[in-house]
Amino acid sequence: MHVDLTFTPAELTHCALAGKVAVVIDVFRFTTAAQAALEAGAAGVFVVREIEEALSMRSNDPSLLLAGERHALKVPGFDFGNSPLEFPPEDVRGRKIVWCTTNGTNAVTMAQQADQVILASLRSAKAAAQYVRDRGLDCVLVPAGLRGRYSLEDTWCAGYIAREIGASHVSDSVQTALIVSECFAVNDLRHSEHGRVLSGLGLDADLDYCLELDRSSAVILQDKESGWCSLSHVG
Ligand code: MLT
Repeated sequence: MHVDLTFTPAELTHCALAGKVAVVIDVFRFTTAAQAALEAGAAGVFVVREIEEALSMRSNDPSLLLAGERHALKVPGFDFGNSPLEFPPEDVRGRKIVWCTTNGTNAVTMAQQADQVILASLRSAKAAAQYVRDRGLDCVLVPAGLRGRYSLEDTWCAGYIAREIGASHVSDSVQTALIVSECFAVNDLRHSEHGRVLSGLGLDADLDYCLELDRSSAVILQDKESGWCSLSHVG
């Protein structure tokens, strides 16, 4: 079992993904928010890269809800922004959500060459590690980063998941992420670049929620054929 890691999604072009599971991580905030929506009872999450794709899917199927952000704020015409605190069960139960964000949904679309794609966050970190470990799968951890660049919180989460997987064969990038996750406490991640942007917008409650470790026993699994993502319970 081998564990690899790309510091940014652009590195995926140098990575053989066939036969592997890609674990996409966007702590602030897409994978955390998608987990919250699915745990609140949403029937599925579908990831797109462009706002126009989301709007066009909805014009073909008006039952769809739209979520996502640009510059961390809700997109005009969408039902939800990208805050994990925005998805009460009464609004999302049984509904399918199309999601478009700057970094997270982009990373998911770039990982499609993998045999399986799962979405992880700090809240589902141990569950994600257990999913990979139980299946003995080679995996590539894919921190979503920030506008194409490295991000501290996603790399920290990747290092934490790598430690929990406990693979004997890991890449240099995984060894680096392991050190990163040892050097910082989880609460330090609110002072990352992205954490400071969200805090500057008054979104400290989002940071508090996103920084809670191992609250969920499920990971988000993307169905290869349909592309829709749903929760897969672990253990
Ligand atoms: C993203 O995917 O770009 C983010 O989750 C941005 C955010 O809403 O903080």
